[in-house]
Amino acid sequence: MFTLCSQNVAARNLVLSLCLFFLFCFVCCTPPGDPIKCSSKTTNCTITNTYGTFPDRTICHAAAAAYPTNEDELVEVIASATKNKIKMKATTRYSHSIPKLVCPNGEDGLLISTKYLNRTLSINESTMTITVESGMTLRQLINDAAKAGLALPYAPYFWGVTVGGMLGTGAHGSSLWGIGSSVSDYVVGLRIVTPAGPEDGYAKVQKIDVGQADLDAAKVSLGVLGVISQVTLKLQPLFKRSVTYVTKDDSDLAEQAASFGKQHEFADITWYPGHRKAIYKIDDRVSLNVSGNGENDFPGFRSTPSLTLALIRTIEENEESAGDADGKCIYSELITSALALSGYGLTKNGILFTGYPVVGYQNKLQSSGTCLDSLEDALITACPWDPRVKGQFFFQTAFTIGMSKVKNFIQDVQKLAELEPKSLCGVELYDGILMRYVKASTAYLGKQEDGIDFDITYYRSKDPMTPRLYEDILEEIEQIAVFKYGGLPHWGKNRNLAFDGVIKKYKHARKFLKVKEEYDPEGLFSSDWTDQVLGLKNGLEIVKDGCALEGLCICSQDSHCAPTKGYFCRPGKVYKDARVCTHLKSLQNKPV
Ligand SMILES: *[C@@H]1O[C@H](CO)[C@@H](O)[C@H](O)[C@H]1NC(C)=O
Ligand SMILES: *[C@@H]1O[C@H](CO)[C@@H](O)[C@H](O)[C@H]1NC(C)=O
Ligand SMILES: *[C@@H]1O[C@H](CO)[C@@H](O)[C@H](O)[C@H]1NC(C)=O
Ligand SMILES: *[C@@H]1O[C@H](CO)[C@@H](O)[C@H](O)[C@H]1NC(C)=O
Repeated sequence: MFTLCSQNVAARNLVLSLCLFFLFCFVCCTPPGDPIKCSSKTTNCTITNTYGTFPDRTICHAAAAAYPTNEDELVEVIASATKNKIKMKATTRYSHSIPKLVCPNGEDGLLISTKYLNRTLSINESTMTITVESGMTLRQLINDAAKAGLALPYAPYFWGVTVGGMLGTGAHGSSLWGIGSSVSDYVVGLRIVTPAGPEDGYAKVQKIDVGQADLDAAKVSLGVLGVISQVTLKLQPLFKRSVTYVTKDDSDLAEQAASFGKQHEFADITWYPGHRKAIYKIDDRVSLNVSGNGENDFPGFRSTPSLTLALIRTIEENEESAGDADGKCIYSELITSALALSGYGLTKNGILFTGYPVVGYQNKLQSSGTCLDSLEDALITACPWDPRVKGQFFFQTAFTIGMSKVKNFIQDVQKLAELEPKSLCGVELYDGILMRYVKASTAYLGKQEDGIDFDITYYRSKDPMTPRLYEDILEEIEQIAVFKYGGLPHWGKNRNLAFDGVIKKYKHARKFLKVKEEYDPEGLFSSDWTDQVLGLKNGLEIVKDGCALEGLCICSQDSHCAPTKGYFCRPGKVYKDARVCTHLKSLQNKPV
């Protein structure tokens, strides 16, 4: 999520100095815009995600938006829509999910924002539980828990996501220890408002406690059961961690990956496959009496001057159009070196990085995202992906591979990297492939077995018909992961094709669908997208010219690629069953 690259020395130095500027300085920023926009106050609305566009580049429409401020108001909103058979969707304050989970079907639906459902309702220090409203951000949750001396042990690294959103999509941190790495694994109760018949006033609050089977449906639900109003999470006493990053070459990564996760509670690995490097995060709990007040402010989630963002994007666009793979490799080296020098945003006290280990409290180290901090400054600075400025525009492919297949998957990617040595520098411009450990979950739509989640962010052209440099290699990795090794796509990320047949990978899918049928028999909270991923409707793949470039289809004919630009549909290089858009001369240093 962090880019830097350039064509000539002058520009490179400028970029580097700007880059160092924002690595080491604190700048304030404009908070992200509201994903819901209505032409009058709360009617005639559109919705997108925080990146300003869905995988198919459409935006969604809705007749109206509602902003309940407590559970009673939420019940009223859902009752009135149910009575009128209006399609609904819960939406969040920032809307960080990439696929169309927030879109009600058609144009006459209702958006129910959880923006004002953001309070902590109670904290019980003796049972170590916290009850919060579902629109609360991870950041608020971490802070409120810490004030009571409590901590959520594993969570996403970006704190701009909400409790309801994390549960809806199965969001997770990294750990093979404890009862699980997903936030949903810590849910011990929740309240969800669902449609109901006239006898119940058209809406009812379902209270689901730990031990009730429905919790396994409701704690990862894609939003199709109703709107979660409150969540009770089991926490732990606030603890300290000690973090050290160690850089190695990636020659034994395939062997090391599985065992490393067992050695350290918060382990993860950042893989730079273009430079054959792996950054191992050695990260463990330590006693509270170990000194240290470390903090984490990951550079990729900091507010960044919009001039810097525009320059970085322009340089990458130029490299893409010039087919300059060497340029990408040189600048990815620069950027990852700068990140390493900065301690990946870790500091000993919020100001200085003075070396490893960095020891600090869990709440100061577990997540970050200071680009959300609000000071309206007319977009002089912004989150790097804010669509209102020229900045990052990317695909994010994220999937979990079962532990027994991780070794083969890594070796396949390494074979591709050997065949096309410069092909994977591009992902390093977005800080490489993040490998996080996840545990099997009891949630019906949660992780099915222990494994490693691979998170890959890469360049997306503003023009849907323009292929990416080494288009074929990342397409092949995506298909190897999802089809050859049966990887589970992250519900809140990915491109359409990754969800092809996904529901067959979940052993308890049928139980989930039964609960959905019971809670929302008319499917008011379902949409084409959720029906498609749940295997209830066809149409997940959108077949048209250039569709494979956007991940809307797997190519089966050349027109799905870009034949006029030299890209044709061909089998993969390592996985022969893959069908990818290959530049036929395979002369990747020629202009595309
Ligand atoms: C809804 O909004 C769109 C664009 O903002 C506008 O063109 C259209 O006229 C509006 N429709 C109504 C019924 O207000
Ligand atoms: C809840 O969100 C609203 C709207 O963003 C904000 O004004 C308010 O301060 C938030 N409340 C808490 C307790 O954070
Ligand atoms: C905390 O939970 C325990 C066990 O459920 C209960 O007895 C106690 O009253 C709760 N304390 C508070 C302050 O709610
Ligand atoms: C820190 O606490 C542990 C027990 O939690 C104790 O065994 C150890 O001696 C303490 N170390 C210091 C330096 O106080």
